[in-house]
Order: sequence, then C-alpha cells, then structure tokens
Amino acid sequence: MKPVKIGLLGLGTVGGGTVTVLTRNAAEIARRAGRGIRIAHAAARAYDQAISGLEQIERIGDDAFAVVDDPDVAIVVELIGGYSPARELVLRAIANGKHVVTANKALIALHGNEIFAAAQERGVVVAFEAAVAGGVPIIKAVREGLAANHIEWIAGIINGTGNFILTEMREKGRDFADVLAEAQALGYAEADPTFDVEGIDAAHKLTILAALAFGIPLQFDKTFTEGISRIEAQDVAYAAELGYRIKHLGIARRVADGIEMRVHPTLIPHRRLIANVNGVMNAVLVKGDAVGPTLYYGAGAGALPTASAVVADIVDVVRTLTSDPHNRVPHLAFQPKELSDTPV
Ligand code: HSE
Repeated sequence: MKPVKIGLLGLGTVGGGTVTVLTRNAAEIARRAGRGIRIAHAAARAYDQAISGLEQIERIGDDAFAVVDDPDVAIVVELIGGYSPARELVLRAIANGKHVVTANKALIALHGNEIFAAAQERGVVVAFEAAVAGGVPIIKAVREGLAANHIEWIAGIINGTGNFILTEMREKGRDFADVLAEAQALGYAEADPTFDVEGIDAAHKLTILAALAFGIPLQFDKTFTEGISRIEAQDVAYAAELGYRIKHLGIARRVADGIEMRVHPTLIPHRRLIANVNGVMNAVLVKGDAVGPTLYYGAGAGALPTASAVVADIVDVVRTLTSDPHNRVPHLAFQPKELSDTPV
C-alpha cells in the first residue's frame, strides 16, 4: 500500500522532534500504522538545518497555507503553536477534507469547540494527544482507557517548565529567572514563557482534560488561574522545613453545582508520590468510580517526548483511514501475516 503523505506546519522544537522520530523509527511506526508515513510538505520560516531526518522531507517551504492546500497531503500536523494563524490554518485544513494532528493546547482550549464542530461536519479527525502533558498519553488514557468510568476528579502537574523551576529552586537554591532561562534554552518553555509561569499553559491543558473527563464543552475562561511567578526561594525553603513541597497543580473535580477547575501552587506533604515528581516530568492523577485512583507519569515537555505523542496521533489517524477493523484496533503490533516471519 502507498505511504500516507503528511504536511508539517512548523519545524521548531516539536516539529524537529517529530521529523526525527518519524525517520528514526519509520519501520516500527509503519508496522503499527499499517502503512508507511512520508512527510510530503513542510512549512517553516526558519529551522535548524541539523534536524535529524530533515532530508526525508520531500518539500520544505515557508508558506503554511500552501501545505494546508497541498492536494498530496492527507494529514496536516500543526506544530506552530499559538492562537493565530494556527486557528485559520486548522480550519482551512478541515475545510479541505484533511485530518489534523496538533500539539497546540492554546488552540484547542480556546477554539476547540469550533474546530471539533467543523471537523465533525466535514467528517475528518482532529487529534491532540501532544497538547497535554507532553509524552504522557493522558488523552488516550482518559478518553479510551477510562471510558467505563464516572470520573470524579483529575489533579496533576501539567506544566514541565514550572515544575522544572520549582524543583531547581528547591534542590539547588537556584534563582527563578536563571532556571526559566535554562527551561527556554532546553525547549521546554512556551514562545511566551509567561504562559508557563502564570499558569495559563496549565489552564489550557486542564480545560482540555476536564472537557474529556466530564463531557463538558471547553471552557478556558471558567478556570481559576494562579501561576508560580511570585514564589520566592524562601517560600520553597520554608515549605521544605515544614515537610512540604510546593507543586503547581491543575485540579478539576465534580462539585455540587458543576465542575470546578483551578490551577495554582499547592503545599503537598513530601512523602506523597506527586510531591516527588521532579524536573520537567508531569504526573496526572485521575480518579474513576470503577477503577479508583490511577496515575500517569512522564516527560511533560521537550522535543522527543512531545514528538512521541504527535507521532502516536499520526499513527492513530492513519489507522482510521482503512476499512479493515484489524487495522483500526490492532490485535498486536504486527500484522498477523508477519508473525510467522518474525523471530522470537
Ligand atoms: N511549555 C510547556 C511545558 C510545553 O513546559 O509544559 C509542553 O506543553
């Protein structure tokens, strides 16, 4: 079967990581998707020529709308971030009948209701695993793994930059601004890092999780948001002296008159699991009525972890392109006919 052709918008931290993962693991990804995946067309204003796998891209330009309008492209992968022109690009991709994969939490949190309605109308898929908690497959966990449950609450560390800053301040006594600069250099922070330190990025992600978990529309404006920018070294030290760690949490839970959503710093006893989630790692606790509490942990930001989630979504969308039910819900990571040839 011919490879599926994708179009890539953005070759920054996550875009570059996506090219690298798609190239490095091409054979395994093709086996899992049931078809090969080619990057037919990418658009970026500037990019690092040293991205591993760059030579595999058939065409690179600087016009994102040309990718969205490219008849060869079946899946548009939006990795430019921000509200605009991401919204216009994604809506045009949908109007053109293309499936969309995005890592853009700001876009989904603010414009997701409009985007999903347009996608449903046009009969295409919009997948967004990478929008929340980087490489942690929390969207699939809540949407699929916990599909049987009445979800009672979700609580988690969902901004890697903020957790990296708090961890470095506590463990090494480092200065807030100095650690933030390092998080930017490592590609963890948003283009506008106030989104990280003022809790806006975490509020975007909590909005998405709450919509999935509780079956409510995306309501970013209903999320109480407080960041970590006013936390000082001595706050972190006093908390430690009292046996606590300061963690920036997103919490969504059922209350008497609806769903409460809040993002703010919290004091957590130092022995609790979530108090020991350090650096760029994220952790999300989800309590379902049937399963009880569950915990999901992993890298919450960075090129390859986020690319891991982007590529998983591409694989999922490719699976939906087939009418073969075994490809839509694979029994194993191998096609059955391959099994006899595969050494064990
Ligand atoms: N700036 C985000 C974070 C990137 O630090 O968590 C991943 O969404």
